[in-house]
Amino acid sequence: TKDENGISQVLLKSPRGASARVSLHGGQVRSWKTERGEELLFTSSKAIFKPPAAVRGGIPICFPQFGNRGSLEQHGFARNRIWVVDKNPPPLQSTNSSGKAFIDLLLKSSDDDLKIWPHSHELRLRVILTVDGCLNLISRVRNVNGKPFSFSFAYHTYFSISDISEVRVEGLETLDYLDNLCNRERLTEQGDALTFESEVDRVYLSSLDAVAVFDHEKKRTFVIKKEGLPDVVVWNPWEKKSKAITDFGDEEYKHML
Ligand code: BG6
Repeated sequence: TKDENGISQVLLKSPRGASARVSLHGGQVRSWKTERGEELLFTSSKAIFKPPAAVRGGIPICFPQFGNRGSLEQHGFARNRIWVVDKNPPPLQSTNSSGKAFIDLLLKSSDDDLKIWPHSHELRLRVILTVDGCLNLISRVRNVNGKPFSFSFAYHTYFSISDISEVRVEGLETLDYLDNLCNRERLTEQGDALTFESEVDRVYLSSLDAVAVFDHEKKRTFVIKKEGLPDVVVWNPWEKKSKAITDFGDEEYKHML
């Protein structure tokens, strides 16, 4: 099918009716729904769907950098580019692949990309929807000409939540974090869980491979498991910053994390 701006997208469905929608714009998961049709990802009502804008919501891919250091644009260019579908993808590796729906998207460095980041590469994103409606994302960066380069990568997932003041994140408390609101100062806090009462923009360092977001009102828990990605970003712009972000509604900070 096509996304809001007419760009191709792929719909994955589980046998029991859960679904995930992935757009070639940004290789971005735009929607992830439960078997009952509840949307789990936030998308702003002010999102701009026309490339080269990055879409505010879903799961933007940050590559080849997270953040805005150096000359590269904030969070890199992958989220702004049009990806292609790999029509002949390698098979699923897991021993139990029955009932899983998946799609592989590819982003190869273009001549224009090489002008701003001179490292020939191919980025592969595999999106898998399991029989239970879990979403698995696997990414691979292939170095095309063999010369070493470094990069950073992030899944910038926008979880949809009932009310930011009511959610709790477990698995990060007591870890060191870099605080983007304090010049990336390295800080630590003590507590049983993370709760929210003002703007947060942190990179938690070397976290455990499982983090949970509890949403009491919706009686929903997101369990985020990861491998090979050491850090966890926690971001909520809160009231004042929301007003300054053009593609984000003034009150929407309450419903995303
Ligand atoms: C977060 C960063 O991950 O992304 C924030 O930590 C940033 O500093 C936010 O404001 C949104 O970035 P962007 O480029 O999508 O507006």
